[in-house]
Amino acid sequence: MAIEAREIYVTALKNTHALEMQALQIMERQVERLKNYPEMEEALRRHIEETHGQRARLEEALQALGDSPSAIKEGFLGFVGNMMALGHTPAQDEILKNTYANHAFENFEIAAYQSLITIGDAAGQGTSLTGFRQSLQEEEAMAQRVRTLIEPTTRRYVELTLAGEQADR
Ligand SMILES: [Fe+2]
Repeated sequence: MAIEAREIYVTALKNTHALEMQALQIMERQVERLKNYPEMEEALRRHIEETHGQRARLEEALQALGDSPSAIKEGFLGFVGNMMALGHTPAQDEILKNTYANHAFENFEIAAYQSLITIGDAAGQGTSLTGFRQSLQEEEAMAQRVRTLIEPTTRRYVELTLAGEQADR
């Protein structure tokens, strides 16, 4: 039997859901550890709230199709997992590695939502797509926020390090 567009869409919904669950884990872990970078902490807290909404949108779309999120597929998150592992090893430059990884992660999510919306469109699932367009906008805004924070964060890291203060997180 031929694969239907609906199946491709369901798989994309599950993958994106797994991605958001990973996003929540990563951001919550960082927020707990951050001490000396209040702007990054604020950006992460805001985006954690948004991400809960994004997760709910995906769950609603799956439920509407009579499906539910499944366990994280190994392989799909391999790349992201490796990238995020950068920030998991305690290092003097932990904040820098997390900043690079957050930038990469948000851009990964942008690609995932653009793709999900395209697949949903091909599957004739117009109703859920308004919500996913909003999720996409939120990812773009967060990617931009992280990008804007690269320079001030790095400057603060250098200043704290030179002053002999805690700079890693
Ligand atoms: Fe995100």
